[in-house]
Amino acid sequence: MKIAVIGTGYVGLVAGACFADTGNQVYCVDIDKKKTDALRNGVIPIFEPGLDTIVKRSVSKERLFFTTSTSEAVAKSEIIFMAVGTPPLPNGEPNLEYLKAAAEEVAKSMDGYRIIVNKSTVPIGTHETVAKWMSAHTKHPFDVVSNPEFLKEGTAIDDFLKPDRVVIGTKKESAYRAMATLYGPFVRQGNPILWMDPVSAEMTKYACNSFLATRISFMNELAGLCEKLGGDIEQIRKGMATDVRIGRHFLYAGAGYGGSCFPKDVQALMATAKKQGLTMGIVTAAEDANYRQKRHLVDHIKKHFGGSVSGKTFAMWGLAFKANTDDMREAPSLVIIEELLSLGAKVKAFDPVAMDNTKEMLGSKIAFGKNMFEVLEGSDGLIVITEWNEFRHPDFKRIKSTLKTPAIFDGRNLYDPAEAKKEGFSYYGIGRGLA
Ligand SMILES: NC(=O)c1ccc[n+]([C@@H]2O[C@H](COP(=O)([O-])OP(=O)(O)OC[C@H]3O[C@@H](n4cnc5c(N)ncnc54)[C@H](O)[C@@H]3O)[C@@H](O)[C@H]2O)c1
Repeated sequence: MKIAVIGTGYVGLVAGACFADTGNQVYCVDIDKKKTDALRNGVIPIFEPGLDTIVKRSVSKERLFFTTSTSEAVAKSEIIFMAVGTPPLPNGEPNLEYLKAAAEEVAKSMDGYRIIVNKSTVPIGTHETVAKWMSAHTKHPFDVVSNPEFLKEGTAIDDFLKPDRVVIGTKKESAYRAMATLYGPFVRQGNPILWMDPVSAEMTKYACNSFLATRISFMNELAGLCEKLGGDIEQIRKGMATDVRIGRHFLYAGAGYGGSCFPKDVQALMATAKKQGLTMGIVTAAEDANYRQKRHLVDHIKKHFGGSVSGKTFAMWGLAFKANTDDMREAPSLVIIEELLSLGAKVKAFDPVAMDNTKEMLGSKIAFGKNMFEVLEGSDGLIVITEWNEFRHPDFKRIKSTLKTPAIFDGRNLYDPAEAKKEGFSYYGIGRGLA
């Protein structure tokens, strides 16, 4: 099939590359010329395991093309995926200006029938809004299909090639059939393609992210109780995860959820409900708990240093909002850094892939190290924020001899508190007993 993907970010590039890998002809469009030029030269602008191999393979086989020209891509394609960003506005509603610009551009470029697929996460009812925007710019027929994306950064290729399910929201059978054909190679193991109405499809995406965010906030609140009563949230997690009614995913206490999806989508669901005169009490509580959780580690740090961290320097391991990504959007590290700086402390950070993105956001507000041990030199304590594999089994003796004070503030519960204490550290995890 011939496909255009408008917006070549985390979702658009993964989707485009995976569709090309199953033999389709894919035109990826982006307004960022630097990005499309880099991609044409084999330079992948984001860190996503496995993505470079699949992009290079499809480019070399002439199945994957990058362009800034929407009209060129639309002219050559039957199905047009919209994968532009929908970042939050200050009131929590998603900003649809990129989607509107892209939809209008697509409409102006059409020379006949097209299937338009909303892959961006969009407010409920946006399939109709997109149709209205487009109708003002084209006389040609089209169908707007809602096809929310559930990939997770860090495992995006696997998630896309072997999705738990594919959701297709449309009332038009022919559009559904075309989409089901396109996704066929990815569901050969029997995972379902769910055909539903567009409103349900749009809501399914917000429902999943808000539910998962709620699980995380629930665990973080329990962790707070552990710190008062002496329980260990890791033991409790195992006790819960083995209950098949609950399951093991997204059940980790930590420094709070971040990234480009959970915070934005939870806020969007709250804003949508508010417009309808409803309150989503559960997700509102999840979001409030997350706001507090992102600051919680700083409470441990202040307590350890007798209330003041002014003049102290902290080594930070990890910056990205989770492991295996360079995405810094809404990362808890940013909140912790801002809090520490406002209290007169300094931060020296190391992250295997997210330092360039952090430098763009923070400039010279913090220092960066070449490796995980360099940032320990002259630091009063170690803060661990991202669960990168290389941080999981560190040389504790080397950490202890390099730090000025042997204190570890573990925002991802990577270490065994008993082992850390045996090695001579003051250890603070999230919900690992009395704090
Ligand atoms: N990142 C994720 O893990 C993830 C997962 C599922 C769903 N989503 C949703 O997918 C959408 C895209 O997210 P993302 O993380 O890939 O965003 P992103 O910011 O990484 O990429 C968006 C891209 O769209 C481009 N763009 C903007 N306007 C354009 C236009 N008019 N024409 C062409 N290109 C244009 C931008 O330059 C950018 O490269 C969002 O709605 C997001 O909520 C994201």
